[in-house]
Amino acid sequence: MREKVQEIQQQITDFVVETPDQLEQFRVAYVGRKGLIADLFDQLKTLPADDRRAMGQELNALKNLAQEKFNTHQQQLEGVTGRVETAPVDLSLPPAPNQTGTIHPLTLARQRIIEIFERMGFNVVDGPEIETDWYNFTALNFAEDHPAREMQDTFFLEKKETERDDVLLRTHTSNVQIRLMERQQPPIRSIMPGRVYRNEAISARAHCFFHQVEGLYVAENVSFRDLKDTLYHFAKELFGADTQVRFRPSYFPFTEPSAEMDISCEMHKPGVCRICGGSQNVCKGTGWVEILGSGMVDPQVLENCGIDSKKYTGFAFGMGIERIAMLKYRIRDLRLYSENDVRFLRQFTQ
Ligand code: DAH
Repeated sequence: MREKVQEIQQQITDFVVETPDQLEQFRVAYVGRKGLIADLFDQLKTLPADDRRAMGQELNALKNLAQEKFNTHQQQLEGVTGRVETAPVDLSLPPAPNQTGTIHPLTLARQRIIEIFERMGFNVVDGPEIETDWYNFTALNFAEDHPAREMQDTFFLEKKETERDDVLLRTHTSNVQIRLMERQQPPIRSIMPGRVYRNEAISARAHCFFHQVEGLYVAENVSFRDLKDTLYHFAKELFGADTQVRFRPSYFPFTEPSAEMDISCEMHKPGVCRICGGSQNVCKGTGWVEILGSGMVDPQVLENCGIDSKKYTGFAFGMGIERIAMLKYRIRDLRLYSENDVRFLRQFTQ
């Protein structure tokens, strides 16, 4: 055993410690509780009682030698920061690039829509997502038996004694029209972006929440011509000057007459169409895609809000931001917007 002690003593003296790895090897071999010296201490009990004391002293001296060497090298290896450096630092390397986030495509589309209307003199107005039946339906002329009031479309939060007081999650941003007209007399020229909710199964084409931008212009002598000019200009600004626009007659309870607006999709030029790339899967081969609903505000709606419908007229419109962003950025699946997949989000650097 004495020979073994001498051998280890020699090893400790010869052991070269220049790196953190070597220090760790040294620690494991000689200082650690499973190291060589610890083994020798274990063997002490096998010695005759007479030898044990002398041998114990030698082992203690050996242990101190290892511990001191370990302490000395540990201090040397600790940098100015007080911690053991794990790798040499190359100060000439360029810094790692900053990981900056990107703007969500829905935010990008909303900002762009707002920008275009602001330049035409519209201001931005906000309204509540938790709403009563009155603001979401009744004041907007929805007949009592209109199917949109049925449970399959609307998330109801609270049923009240009278239907118009029922509390629900708004199904569109048109509620803000009513709130705005109630508190402000014309002229009104506002857009109202926000989130809306519908009780729909989630798929590539439908979601239980999405976003809309509502528009409202009420003043003296506002005509359908103004509606067309405004929305025509908007479509060209957003989708490019060569975009064609068409209006189709439609129906909304709160506008009369009503129209939906389509933009051309250039599907006739395969591979060129900026929306589907020629696959025709968006326009279904028609060459047109719908982007918004609109119409002249029904005089009854103006009256519901205390606005004189003999003096004032107005137009309104509403569009889905998801849809606009899908067309603008060629996004195929609505679910991508809310899944937080960075591989999707990173593509929207400006
Ligand atoms: N609120 C309608 C919807 O959610 C969109 C809409 C259509 C809004 C026509 C309007 C409008 O203001 O005039 O489908």
